Amino acid sequence: MQSAMKLYKNLARFYDLIYSQTFREFHEKYAQFVFEAYKKFCKSKGKDLLEVACGTGELLRRLKKLGFNVAGLDLSNEMIKIAKKKIKANFYVADMKDFSLGKNFDVIVCAFTSMNYNLNRKELENTLKNFYTHLKQGGITVFDMPPKKFLEKRIGNQWLRVFEHGDLEIVRISQLEKGEKENTVRNVMMYFFKEKGKVDFEIDIHEHGLFKVSEVKKLMKKCGFKKVYVFGGLNFEKYTVNSNRAYFLGVK
Ligand SMILES: C[S@@+](CC[C@H](N)C(=O)[O-])C[C@H]1O[C@@H](n2cnc3c(N)ncnc32)[C@H](O)[C@@H]1O
Repeated sequence: MQSAMKLYKNLARFYDLIYSQTFREFHEKYAQFVFEAYKKFCKSKGKDLLEVACGTGELLRRLKKLGFNVAGLDLSNEMIKIAKKKIKANFYVADMKDFSLGKNFDVIVCAFTSMNYNLNRKELENTLKNFYTHLKQGGITVFDMPPKKFLEKRIGNQWLRVFEHGDLEIVRISQLEKGEKENTVRNVMMYFFKEKGKVDFEIDIHEHGLFKVSEVKKLMKKCGFKKVYVFGGLNFEKYTVNSNRAYFLGVK
């Protein structure tokens, strides 16, 4: 699809501006959550961490500060280029469904709904298998996904947001739609930019897979994870049907 995932390609330079507020709160807490999860659940010896779908590296740089030896992987070369300017680390441009790094990690993280870029069960299984293969024995994976029911309830909703950074103004109107394929949604986003007195616009579409929490747990077990936990928040809250986001933790 031609207008798909432009935010990670020609619009990548706007990504940090659009999410800067979210980053401050969410990424700080997320990094702390990964650190606590590592201390509580990880049985392997080292601190080697891979962030899959690391984007511009905002979470990765916080994880590095917490003492992890970090590496990042992302499908988008444009996003990786931005991350490289912030962090000294190994970066890989690859697809989470079929990467092969020839190296194992103590922790593999995939944050901020990125796992939902797997559009069906087969894709999610391939990704989880890949995470398992790249973990050391006793290592952990941590990732989040908004549950199927939560996203389904939001189909038809629209949002308007304005972001202002000096000379640059961005208006984003977005709408969540039912996807073409079964158990998918489409996030259609219209961006209007005003920069140095000139205006421009772009339309961007992101497809996401919808998965039940029970389905993901089952797949993780099928892929070999010895222990699987699901939390409802970044303070290890119990997951309930009212949770907006499920945080999965698997131990190899
Ligand atoms: C919402 S951003 C999250 C970035 C970062 N984790 C964060 O928290 O800011 C999603 C990222 O997933 C990446 N991505 C999408 N599909 C992917 C795939 N199949 N394999 C690897 N990365 C992918 C995109 O390029 C983008 O950088």
